[in-house]
Amino acid sequence: MTAYGKTVLVTGAAGFIGSHLVDALLQKRATVIGVDNLSTGRSDFLDKAMLDDRFSFQELDLLEDDLTPLLQKADTVYHLAANPDVRSGAEDTRPHFDQNVVATYRLLEWCRRAKVPKFVFASTSTVYGDAAVMPTPEDYGPLLPISIYGASKLACEALVSSYGHQYSMRSVIFRFANVVGPRSTHNVLHDFVRKLNEDPESLEILGAEPGTCKSYIHVSDTVNGILKGSEKAEGLVEVFNIGSRDWTFVKDIADTVVDKMGLQGTEYRWTGGVEGGGGWIGDVRKMLLSAKKLEKAGWSPKLTSSEAIELAVMEILSE
Ligand SMILES: NC(=O)c1ccc[n+]([C@@H]2O[C@H](COP(=O)([O-])OP(=O)(O)OC[C@H]3O[C@@H](n4cnc5c(N)ncnc54)[C@H](O)[C@@H]3O)[C@@H](O)[C@H]2O)c1
Repeated sequence: MTAYGKTVLVTGAAGFIGSHLVDALLQKRATVIGVDNLSTGRSDFLDKAMLDDRFSFQELDLLEDDLTPLLQKADTVYHLAANPDVRSGAEDTRPHFDQNVVATYRLLEWCRRAKVPKFVFASTSTVYGDAAVMPTPEDYGPLLPISIYGASKLACEALVSSYGHQYSMRSVIFRFANVVGPRSTHNVLHDFVRKLNEDPESLEILGAEPGTCKSYIHVSDTVNGILKGSEKAEGLVEVFNIGSRDWTFVKDIADTVVDKMGLQGTEYRWTGGVEGGGGWIGDVRKMLLSAKKLEKAGWSPKLTSSEAIELAVMEILSE
């Protein structure tokens, strides 16, 4: 088995981050089984992977199908399938519970029965809620998420930790900052590009000027971080933050998108957001992660938040 796994199973393989992780694992010469129900994922994100003999794809749903037969072959599972839409949880709480908590529980059960040696989980900065310490390290607490999404991912982390300890399944949990890059289908950049394509003269922005201030990380840095952390994790259950060293306001993101789209004179219409300064209910106002632990393991982000956003906007516009 290589540091990343010899035969690995990736859930959410046709998603934004999952498809980039599949490409990177294939480059590392792993045999990759991709699983996705294609709810938000797209099969064309796997076009490159499909050309590789070491890749196979199964359209399966973690809430309906049984992955046990596939897991018999896997030495590492990378679990990225989820409902990652933070905003939607305020209106309908059930999808986050089902697609995050229940799906993760079902997968962990299959993994323990199949005696999968290693489990890698994609978590999020939102588990920290409105953290009082910035940059926020992995051992910050108490963890008090302010969104249903954050709560559901924290519940998943607790399950991953307990399965790791009870069944000696080595587990690595990654808490990502906001990830941007090509193949993204739902983030602030996408939202702005879509709105400006419809109306270049005015842009509705959720929140109050200058908006929330958060850290953004390019998907290439994120995937490198997942590989480095998976390789270097020493404990039975390890947690790593993955984020850039700086942060940026929503207004600066809007300026970048407007500039890269070659627009001038676009009027910003701020919605005013919600009490406390977030763009919507459950939106964290400030987020900056300390990634020193992963940096000590040999990883560092190549791009700052602004550079990641600039590159991602160009990539989205050329898609
Ligand atoms: N994008 C970010 O900024 C970000 C930040 C922090 C954490 N994360 C986490 O990273 C992971 C990947 O996020 P993403 O942005 O690539 O999202 P994404 O929506 O592009 O990918 C998720 C994938 O999971 C699939 N999926 C959902 N439910 C499924 C089910 N029941 N069975 C099988 N497949 C299912 C979807 O079709 C999709 O392809 C998620 O776990 C998310 O919570 C993302």
